[in-house]
Amino acid sequence: MTTTSEELQTYLYDRRRLVESALRSAIPSDWRIPPQLREAVEYSLHAGGKRLRPIFVLAAAESVAGDPVTVERAMPFAMAVEMIHTYSLIHDDLPAMDNDDLRRGRPTNHKVYGEAMAILAGDGLLTQAFHTASRSAELGVPADRVLAVIAELSRFAGLPGMVGGQADDMLGEQGITTLEQLENIHLRKTSDLIVFSLRAGGHAAESGDSQLQALGLFGRNVGLAFQIQDDILDLSGDESKLGKPVNSDEKQAKVTYPYLIGLDESRKRVVRLTDEAKEAVAGAALGDPQLLLQIADYMAGRDH
Ligand code: IPE
Ligand code: IPE
Ligand code: MG
Ligand code: MG
Ligand code: MG
Repeated sequence: MTTTSEELQTYLYDRRRLVESALRSAIPSDWRIPPQLREAVEYSLHAGGKRLRPIFVLAAAESVAGDPVTVERAMPFAMAVEMIHTYSLIHDDLPAMDNDDLRRGRPTNHKVYGEAMAILAGDGLLTQAFHTASRSAELGVPADRVLAVIAELSRFAGLPGMVGGQADDMLGEQGITTLEQLENIHLRKTSDLIVFSLRAGGHAAESGDSQLQALGLFGRNVGLAFQIQDDILDLSGDESKLGKPVNSDEKQAKVTYPYLIGLDESRKRVVRLTDEAKEAVAGAALGDPQLLLQIADYMAGRDH
């Protein structure tokens, strides 16, 4: 489908715009919500960001069945994962967690709205994600697929997934973490939501089990590479490009990949995991895996 890096840039830009426009009407304007809470939610949800997870939902759907109807049907899942991701960032930045002041190029949510509103904005986004995902049924996604996605979302984003990974990330600040434990934290706190994204796109396109498995394995490896790259950028990146502070991990005494194995070895792992991700989808019976292969490479080379 996509062949040049310019076309990939255009694809990513177009999909980001599509997601952002859908997110603008995600919370009905006639719902009665305390204005300050609505403002706090919208402040973080519309602050930009790469929109990588929702783009993965759409790209996975397109890689299975490349028609515009599929993209439309997958959009509620794309919105849902971005809501959950945004909530996780609001909570991750709180003083009780990573205690950061800058996110997506703006002061963090609690800096503007206070901790109580920031916690509640996160709670609201988390809950709204499930409401949004359920609306895919109205767009023609079969009910059994909607149910499967909702069950997967609660698991991958929840206690055995992202939330559990964040808990172990916090507990790790207080003790030695081995490489094996660290991989396990990264797989849950970051890969799991990316695995969800790819599988949700697959469900929207009514993929078979082996396609779903390949998409999930791709997500696992690309997600782990993504968090290792995030650790690398925390040490060697540029705050103005990242839109968030550098050296946050060191400040919080986090155990990271560069801390355990050094920058060079961490970079090698990103390359290796990206190759393994690409192998997982190249060999699967997807309609057109090209797009996913290219996004994987693009992500491995990212500077923000
Ligand atoms: C940051 O995610 C948190 C991690 C899991 C590494 P992103 O780097 O995708 O953040 P945004 O959405 O672009 O702001
Ligand atoms: C956070 O990892 C992962 C989440 C689930 C939010 P980090 O704490 O490293 O993410 P950043 O660097 O603050 O974006
Ligand atoms: Mg964190
Ligand atoms: Mg953080
Ligand atoms: Mg980080």
